[in-house]
Amino acid sequence: MRTDPGRLRWAREDEVPALEDLMLEASLLWPDHRDDLLAHPDAIEVPVDEVRTHRVRVHEQDGEVTGFATVLPVRDGEAELDGLFVRPARMRHGIGGRLVADAAQRARDEGAVRLAVVAQPRAAVFYGRCGFRTVGETSTRFGPAIRMLCDLTPLERAARP
Ligand SMILES: CC(C)(COP(=O)(O)OP(=O)(O)OC[C@H]1O[C@@H](n2cnc3c(N)ncnc32)[C@H](O)[C@@H]1OP(=O)(O)O)[C@@H](O)C(=O)NCCC(=O)NCCS
Repeated sequence: MRTDPGRLRWAREDEVPALEDLMLEASLLWPDHRDDLLAHPDAIEVPVDEVRTHRVRVHEQDGEVTGFATVLPVRDGEAELDGLFVRPARMRHGIGGRLVADAAQRARDEGAVRLAVVAQPRAAVFYGRCGFRTVGETSTRFGPAIRMLCDLTPLERAARP
């Protein structure tokens, strides 16, 4: 039987609670922030406004939401990947990579020349594989983080030999 590769679509307002459950489940993957997250559940939020304004893309497979990504509007040529989460049972099947490629395409379509992310140190290898480079260090309310950038080369230029 052929495996369903899944599809990407816009998030819907009625699934915000389910997305927040997925966000919590994925975030608890890294042991570093587990206690902080459980102590501060307000950090787990998918703003309805971002869903309503088409900032949130969902990956769905076999009728189940398996991951999602949020891209904020472009400012000074830069779009920010503000959240990326994959259901732990579906990790390492390319879903995160697909969501990043989709986010890059959306950002490009909106005129961005760079996609930025504030990455958890443990996610840096993943973002490196997706074409991001480290540009500095920063911090979040839960500790140190890495600022990374991906240059959004126009596809037609990238495809030229
Ligand atoms: C980071 C995350 C989105 C990756 O999603 P994913 O669907 O598993 O990623 P992919 O399958 O597309 O991975 C692509 C490549 O990235 C690298 N990678 C992904 N997860 C990794 C991990 N935990 N450790 C090391 N490398 C990893 C691998 O090279 C992988 O390729 P491979 O599986 O062929 O070796 C997912 O682990 C997640 O939701 N983590 C918790 C939330 C989080 O940290 N989000 C990012 C916030 S900054």
